[in-house]
Amino acid sequence: MVTINLANWNAFLDCLDGLLYTPEVQSMRRLPHHPGVNCYEHSVFVAYVAFRIGRRYGLDYRACARGGLLHDLYLYDCRDASAHPGNQCLDHPEFALRNAAALTALSQKERNIIQSHMWPLAVHLPRSREAWAVSSADKICATLEVLGVWKRLRMRAVLAA
Ligand SMILES: [Fe+2]
Ligand SMILES: [Fe+2]
Repeated sequence: MVTINLANWNAFLDCLDGLLYTPEVQSMRRLPHHPGVNCYEHSVFVAYVAFRIGRRYGLDYRACARGGLLHDLYLYDCRDASAHPGNQCLDHPEFALRNAAALTALSQKERNIIQSHMWPLAVHLPRSREAWAVSSADKICATLEVLGVWKRLRMRAVLAA
């Protein structure tokens, strides 16, 4: 199981270079995501797990952390059908990409991480190992959130603070 310590947390924050504290990212705290979990908690959880996968397997872990943090930056209430034109699965990565690109300069790899994170329910195929890492982290974290495991993890106190 992925754990957290000060060295890992500081290395993770270095990768994000202040993005965590931007109003746009912080505003995800107000948006529901999975039951009992807001979009900010989910995004930081995914970013941290992807970062750890990236470090463990020698990937571009900065892209994993940044792509993970921004992958769901769609910034609307997903329960409000009027907030987006079609299918949430297909829509929200495109909104997230638009918002993320307005917030920071994204590499092509980071753009693909965001666009493909819902694969296989996505138009875009993950084109890097980092994109696969974030897509996998997203599914792992979503499963832990839906099962209620996330609420019992000690690392939640740090990640969701
Ligand atoms: Fe998503
Ligand atoms: Fe997600």
